[in-house]
Amino acid sequence: MRVAIFGASGATGSLLTRRCVKGGHHVTVLVRSREFPYFAGHVCVVHGSVFDPLAVADTVRAADVVFSTLGARSLRREDVLERAVPLIVQAMQETATTHKPVRRIIVLGSAGALPDSLDFQPAWRRWIVQKIIYKTVLKWPVASQVFQYKALSTSGLDWTMVMPPMLTNGPLRGRCCVDGDALPLNATHISRADVAAFMFQQINSPQWIRKGVYISY
Ligand SMILES: NC(=O)c1ccc[n+]([C@@H]2O[C@H](COP(=O)([O-])OP(=O)(O)OC[C@H]3O[C@@H](n4cnc5c(N)ncnc54)[C@H](OP(=O)(O)O)[C@@H]3O)[C@@H](O)[C@H]2O)c1
Repeated sequence: MRVAIFGASGATGSLLTRRCVKGGHHVTVLVRSREFPYFAGHVCVVHGSVFDPLAVADTVRAADVVFSTLGARSLRREDVLERAVPLIVQAMQETATTHKPVRRIIVLGSAGALPDSLDFQPAWRRWIVQKIIYKTVLKWPVASQVFQYKALSTSGLDWTMVMPPMLTNGPLRGRCCVDGDALPLNATHISRADVAAFMFQQINSPQWIRKGVYISY
């Protein structure tokens, strides 16, 4: 398959890119850095900004599946998703009348994107996370993920938003809890390796199309 990846230079994106390359897919990545030393000769690299509509359109053109693991590099307000996701959606929508519409998009979101994400958690944990953490340290990342969810769910595309709690750099376990309604009870973290594996599996699965899905240990 032809796979386009935004965020391939990031911690989760590089793991996902590796999986796609090893899976024998034809991979195109958009990176802003001049240097993209990974997988030389195995990926097609578009150098540019995710805020440039032409670079974004070049990247998604002819893709069977689009992935995004984009995110801000800090906890400050950066508006990366607010600026990039509409351009990716628009570039995909503009292929609708071509002989090969690009409809499938699988993105890395976060559990903070939806207000009912913590419904299965104990009340004390819900209170701390929603009343304190989401209003202070994670204020801008959460706002960006809320935005991303709205942009995808109104896009008309075949989207899936994978919504984990805290990410770690731990090893691949190869198994996790999956729930379409809310984070599993006592879910606290999951490794980027397992997130990348789950996102990769969605290439061939219709189960979570047009849905958000929570994953965690
Ligand atoms: N950290 C957590 O615990 C956690 C939990 C749940 C969900 N998430 C979500 O997971 C996502 C990714 O996490 P991660 O740890 O894999 O992220 P990361 O390592 O910080 O990677 C972010 C990617 O986005 C790209 N990017 C950022 N700003 C950009 C810009 N202005 N233009 C072009 N590309 C830009 C980076 O490119 P460069 O290499 O060029 O900077 C990089 O490829 C984020 O959306 C985050 O909200 C994180």
